[in-house]
Amino acid sequence: MNKKQKELAIEVKGITKSYPGVVANKSVDFTVNKGEIHALVGENGAGKSTLMKILYGIEQADEGEVSVNGNVVEINKVDTAIKLGIGMVHQEFHLVPSFTAAENIGLGEEPRNSNGLINWDKLNKDVSEIAEKYGLDVDPNLRMIDASVGIQQRTEILKTLYRNADILILDEPTAVLTPQETDELFQVIRSLVDEGKTVIFITHKLREVMEISDRVTVMRDGEVQGVSETKKTSVKELANLMVGREVFLQVQKEKSKPTDVVLEVKDLWVHDARGLVAVKGVNFEVAKGEIVGIAGVDGNGQTELVEALAGLRDTSRGEILFEGKNIEKNSPRQRRREGLAHIPEDRSNTGLNVRLAIWENLIGTSYFRSPLSRGGIVSMKNILRHSNELRETFDIRSPGVTIRAGSLSGGNQQKVVVARELSEEPALTIASQPTRGVDIGNIEAIHEQIVEIRDSGKAVLLISAELDEVMSVADRVGVIYEGEFVEWVDPSKVNQEQMGLYMAGIKG
Ligand SMILES: Nc1ncnc2c1ncn2[C@@H]1O[C@H](COP(=O)(O)OP(=O)(O)O)[C@@H](O)[C@H]1O
Ligand SMILES: [Mg+2]
Repeated sequence: MNKKQKELAIEVKGITKSYPGVVANKSVDFTVNKGEIHALVGENGAGKSTLMKILYGIEQADEGEVSVNGNVVEINKVDTAIKLGIGMVHQEFHLVPSFTAAENIGLGEEPRNSNGLINWDKLNKDVSEIAEKYGLDVDPNLRMIDASVGIQQRTEILKTLYRNADILILDEPTAVLTPQETDELFQVIRSLVDEGKTVIFITHKLREVMEISDRVTVMRDGEVQGVSETKKTSVKELANLMVGREVFLQVQKEKSKPTDVVLEVKDLWVHDARGLVAVKGVNFEVAKGEIVGIAGVDGNGQTELVEALAGLRDTSRGEILFEGKNIEKNSPRQRRREGLAHIPEDRSNTGLNVRLAIWENLIGTSYFRSPLSRGGIVSMKNILRHSNELRETFDIRSPGVTIRAGSLSGGNQQKVVVARELSEEPALTIASQPTRGVDIGNIEAIHEQIVEIRDSGKAVLLISAELDEVMSVADRVGVIYEGEFVEWVDPSKVNQEQMGLYMAGIKG
């Protein structure tokens, strides 16, 4: 056996960490070999980020021991972690939007001239050199406010490399990326290990684990459930370990039985925030009893189309007919009252008020109705009962409904939005990226709920950049490219490769 492979970059023994009311890490043992890509997987709330924050000195463990490169260390602040060669890219980026990439990367560590002023030339040169070495394509002069999510992430990675990180922790890096950006990130990760770095890659997407990692550790409820070489395990086995029960990876549903048309879109044109045409004269219908999917790479007009349907963006031409009536002039609230629900892609801004309690978010669109209000008076008792029922039905994991929505994990925040929207049994539900950032057990639950709405005779429009999702959940799928439908397909009769061509705008 190759001795080098056996050297440990990280060895964690018996780490326990409690927060009020929850043990986030329970006697965790965790090892990472030097030079490997180690996937750390688990559902939301499993304790992955906590363990990584302990390694990075953001949190302190109650018990346990950490060794880095064979030496027992005390990491009680981030500076210590950085000195030990550990770098971390968080789920939420920590960049200054008005600063350029180079300014962000150098922040607090800028090279100085002899007169004490920042040596911008050297900083730009250093950044470009590191960027080149690892294939991290970033323009040092680009302001972060103008950068795509993918570029912001690369800037964060460069920031750790600029501080000489040897062990990189990437916390759910692909949750915010498109499939192409994910591919690009994987190339970067591969070049990092080629250059001798060690990468800890957190994800809940098991396909990514299989594609990129050498070994994988699975966590659930704060405990390690298993460790394996990736090639000796399977998606199925990992999914079962993660969720703690048998998971169906395929959505179970009968053939759809569409009836009356609920939504009719005719020659619809919509402009984007910059005034450019984003939706170019699309036509389609959605009927009761069917799930119509819209597939496509992010940024091909999906967002603008959904916003126009939900009443959040003006249309420039065309018609939106809901149950036969023109609704273009109706406010989002009027549309909602008429039976059009919307699960927005951006849950923390549009979907939720993170500063309000879970119950306040759950009833935000229905509190004025009986039995939540009677004779104009709000019944707190009924509201709490109703909220707690939704919390159970939709499996929102929280100590209660009175805590702030913002304190929930991303997946649970999404479940609050889904619960609110679906609890009103709308005639049409527009579900936009309903499982983005949601873990596998909850994805399954959300997909089941979408199929249930369909089976109860309602209509669903599902928009997703996850091809697997649209293909397995929807009954009919339109592929959108540059604001137009390239093709409509029966998902059971078309393969991935053909879909990929449509998504690239190539007609059959
Ligand atoms: N700062 C905190 N205060 C209180 N509870 C926390 C805090 N951070 C995490 N938790 C809780 O610890 C558990 C593990 O969370 P986390 O490590 O973020 O999980 P993961 O990253 O696997 O989704 C969850 O129940 C979460 O709510
Ligand atoms: Mg996390």
